[in-house]
Parts: sequence; structure tokens; C-alpha cells
Amino acid sequence: MDWPRGFGGLCYGGDYNPEQWPEEVWKEDVELMRRAGVNLVSVGVFSWARLEPAPGVHDFGWLDRVLDLLHTGGIGVNLATPTASPPPWFGLAHPDALTVTASGVRLTHGSRDTYCVSAPPYRDASARITRALAERYRDHPALAMWHVHNEYGTWCHCDHVAAAFRTWLQARHGTLDTLNDLWTTSFWSQHYSAWEQVMPPRATQYLPNPAQTLDFRRFLSDEMLDCFREQKAVLRELTPDVPVTTNFVFGDWVPVNQRHWAREVDLVAIDHYPAADPPAETAFGADLARCWSGGEPWLLMEQAVVTYTGPRMVPKRPGEIARLSLSHIARGSRGAMFFQWRASRGGAELWHSGMVPHAGQDSRIFREICELGALLPALREATLAPVEAEAAVLWDVESGWALQSPGLPSTELSYLDAVRQAHRVLYRHGVTADFAHPSADLSAYRMVLVPSLYLLSDADAENLRRYVEGGGTLVVSYLSGIADEHARIRLGGYPGALRDLLGIRVEEFHPLAPDAAIPLSAPGGDPVGTATFWSEHVHLEGAEALAHYGGAPGTAKDTGTAGATGAALAGLPAVTRHRHGSGTALYISTRLTDDTYARLLGLEPSPLELVRRGEWLFAINHGDDGQVVPGGLRLPAGSHAVQKMREI
Ligand code: GLA
Repeated sequence: MDWPRGFGGLCYGGDYNPEQWPEEVWKEDVELMRRAGVNLVSVGVFSWARLEPAPGVHDFGWLDRVLDLLHTGGIGVNLATPTASPPPWFGLAHPDALTVTASGVRLTHGSRDTYCVSAPPYRDASARITRALAERYRDHPALAMWHVHNEYGTWCHCDHVAAAFRTWLQARHGTLDTLNDLWTTSFWSQHYSAWEQVMPPRATQYLPNPAQTLDFRRFLSDEMLDCFREQKAVLRELTPDVPVTTNFVFGDWVPVNQRHWAREVDLVAIDHYPAADPPAETAFGADLARCWSGGEPWLLMEQAVVTYTGPRMVPKRPGEIARLSLSHIARGSRGAMFFQWRASRGGAELWHSGMVPHAGQDSRIFREICELGALLPALREATLAPVEAEAAVLWDVESGWALQSPGLPSTELSYLDAVRQAHRVLYRHGVTADFAHPSADLSAYRMVLVPSLYLLSDADAENLRRYVEGGGTLVVSYLSGIADEHARIRLGGYPGALRDLLGIRVEEFHPLAPDAAIPLSAPGGDPVGTATFWSEHVHLEGAEALAHYGGAPGTAKDTGTAGATGAALAGLPAVTRHRHGSGTALYISTRLTDDTYARLLGLEPSPLELVRRGEWLFAINHGDDGQVVPGGLRLPAGSHAVQKMREI
């Protein structure tokens, strides 16, 4: 299906919330949108209370006028179903459909996303408003795409959820005996003798069961996906040729398995808000979106014109809005969209940014928005060929969930940190990488990095073995292959599922204190870098050591346990290599610095972001110095070029 309907070029625009403004502003909006080159806006994302001010009473007049105005201005509409924010009357009429926290607190309306996806009244009301919208606008010429809901990702622990969770568990595990076995309920007297005893992981006295919490996340993802499917079915029935999407949000709190969801949407769309290191994080988010979309084009649905660093909202540097948008487009996005068109003057996000800032059109931001809008139409041709990636980083959201369980050998473990580092090292050294699931065909990649892939099924481990046998280079780092898909430890030594392939056996983990650093040395004794964060007692069982823990007493910087650890591991392997079939499997038992990691992979730093697509090259200079693109073109600081290879 072509998306958005009727679009040949790249999409440019953002969330448009006209209901927050008097009607006289709408005309100016459309005028400014035209000036900026905007061609698509997401409308109605949180408009339920305006569309249905009382149960069953609809008010579409204002939205009719908005859509007509946009259409007259030549702007397409990505029309949202408003189900991410039910009106106050809904919660008062159906208190059982409001979210219940793990501690049993029932939330009240007053923000957004306060509903339970398992509550029948919510599901019914969502289907009704979706049908009413689709019936109203099915033939409207501005309708280009459906934007279902917004950033699915809510948690609830109420009785509706408990019932739905049990049904899901029955379908997944069959019998209660199997569930008892897979959840190891023999521990702490958790054995269930009837399905009614099984609960969502509500607040409890001490550590919850990790298999239960992992299954609960899987359930929430599937349950929300059912909601999405229900709305999509209504939209398909009434508007069969209009594509349907929803916007995925990043964050390790999100109980959504995007890989499963991606099969159900007509296009993958992401919201992306880098915080600490915008260029590297942008490449990370964009490459992940391309993985979810199976290499097909996808869409950056939201980004901001400022950087939300966490504590502060910081203006983007001059030209950064364009550079990051271009990075998304180079990596597969068919356009650049923002949250939001016009910065709000009230409401919870009154300080969130807009393409038209509080200062209005006479502003640096709006000028840069217009410049970017003018640039995009010429880029379409360069986005037709697929992105070329020579390496892959394995990504499995369920491993990330499992690494958030309580009771792990370190509370400081972060799947995202490990994956981000692997990707960042490739990115900073000019290697375009795909993300791939451990079950994917990896044969096209020269190198595959496996950061902290804690859960690994037998079938996926076998897939990795085949990749190496066929000549690939697999680079596995600490805490991979530890548990099966039910989060049960594989016995006999770590990294259980990958021991033979790596030719090693790990006997003990030695997590390091935050300030600890153990020197690493090459077999001849030369220093080769530093181990931080994590270390392990590795035995060679067929592999050779590429680096050893130094760690003679006193060489570790840490004065506490790391000193002892450094000594305990002194002379033992830290990084290993094992030839297998026609390929090689490396193991990194610690967190290397980015430089050491890159040296191990034989990579040279690249000061430019370079992405190849067929005969086109995207080159972006995020730095403060001029650089030269391979082929001789000079790129001044902060600039970018998209050119045919033979022209450079
Ligand atoms: C998310 C949401 C938007 C808005 C922005 C704020 O991406 O989808 O509704 O809250 O963040 O930047």
C-alpha cells in the first residue's frame, strides 16, 4: 500500500493541534505551513473530549473546518484516533476502565493515557469513536493516513488485566503445570493450584518472580496490539485504501515489542527525542526503525526542534534540526515530522517546542524550519535505493526487559547502554549498521555485534553458530546467552548457549564498582586498554586470548572490591577469539572503552556521518571543523551534502 495516500515525495510537517487555538490562528497556520513547505500534519491526536463532549454526542464541525482549510492549502492529513486521552466523563462513567498501579492506586483523569486497555468499556468506546471518525472523514480529500492512538505503552494491574493476563498465559503455556515449571514457582512457595491465583505482578513484599514480570510485559505488548488491531479493522473496513500506522516511542519502560507490532502496521513510524548525544542517538533510533520495518521505508513521526536532555530543554545548534532530520532520512525515514507545529501557550506541555515557537515566525527556529522544508523535495531520488549496511548489531527487546529484572548480579546493568555502545562504536567509525533480531538471516553481514543478549533460545543460538560457520565474524559481549527464553539460567558455565561457539567457559562474574578500572594487556604484555563496569573469570576451551586482565595487586584504580577483583583475575583472559567453521567468534568479558572496542574491530575513526544508498552518498558533518568527503568534496563545519558518488 502506498503511504501516505497520494504522496510521491518526502513527508514534512508535525502534530497540529488547532483545537488549542482560536480559529483566526488556523488561517495563519496554513499560510505558514505553506511557506515552510509542510505537506502533512497529524491532527486530532488528543481531541476526544472535543469530538465527543458527552457520551455518544459528537461535534465534528470544528474538525470539518480544519480539514477543509488544510486541504485548500494543499496539506495532507494524518488523522489520529484520539484514544490515548479519554475525556473526563469517560472515567467518571467507567471507573473500572481507569488505570490501576501495581500498588493498587486507581488513577484519575487529569493528564493523558489514563485508561486500561483490557477494560471492555474502554475498548468499546475506542471502537465507537474510531468508527464515528472514519464514517465522517472516509471521503475527505485531505485524509492521507490514519494515526491510531499515540505512543502505546501504558501499564495497568486491575482485575480486567488480571483476567486477560490469565487468558494470555493459558494460550502461551497451556497448562498450569507448565506455567509452574517455567516460572520456577517452587521457589518461595509460589506454586499455583488454580488459574485464579495467578496475578499481574502487583506490589508485593520483596522481589517479584522474574519470569512472571517478563511474561507480563509480553502480555501487555500483545494486549495493546489487540487494541490497535481492533481500531485498524474498523478503519480498513471503512477506508480500505488509506494506510494505518501508530507512532512507536523509545524508552526501556515501554512494554511494546515493536518487532511484533511492525507486522501489523502499514508503515513503521517512530517518535525520537535524543538526549545526551543527538547525532549518535539519532543514528541509533533510525537504524532501529529500519530494522523494525524490515528494511522498508519508515517515518520519523515526531522529533523536537530542541533537545530534551532530561534536566534541561536546550536549543539545537544552528543547522542541527536539518542535520538530524537528514540523518533520519539517510537511514530510511521517508520524511521529517515534528512535535508539534505551534508551541502551546498552556497545558502540560506548554514548554515543549514547536516548529512555530512562542516567539512566532520571526525566529531562528522558524527560519530553519523553512530552510529544511525547501531542501527536502530534491532528496526524494536519493532515498529510493536501500540503505547499505555492512555490519549488524543484534537487538532483542525481551533481553532488555529481562535485564530489568530485580535480583540480577548488578543493579547497574543496562541493556540499552550495552547496545548503544556497540552501535555508537560502529557509527563513530563510519560503519553503517543494521539492527537485526537473533533469528534473522545474518549471512550478508561481514560483522555482527552481540551486546548483552541475556535471553537466547536454542534456535537463535544455532542461527548464530551457522553465521560463524559460514564465514562471519561474531563479536559477543558480556551477559549474552545466559538464560533461555523463559529467563531460566543455562547451567554448566556462562555464556550457556554460546559456550561452544566461543570456545570458552565463564565460571564467575565480577561486577566492578563504578570507578573501577582494570588494565588489559595483550599476550605479549603490551597494554591494550582498560576494563570497566564488569569482569569475568574466563576459561579457554578452544579459544585463544587476545587480551588479559592485568590487575596485579595495586594496578586496579579502585580501592575497594575492584582491587581485589583485579588481583583475582590477573593474567586471566578478558577478550578471546575462536575460529569456528570458516568464521570467527570473539568474546569480550568486560565493558571496553569505545576506543579499545573499535581497535579490537580494526576500525578507524570517521569524522563524518556517511550513509550510502545505491549511487547516492549522504554526508553529514556534525562537527566543528571542516572535513573532506571521500572523493574530495569539502564539507564545512555543520554542513551536509547528498550527492551521486560519481559527482564527488
Ligand atoms: C511524545 C508524544 C507527544 C508529546 C511529545 C512531547 O512524543 O507523542 O504527544 O508529548 O512527546 O515532546
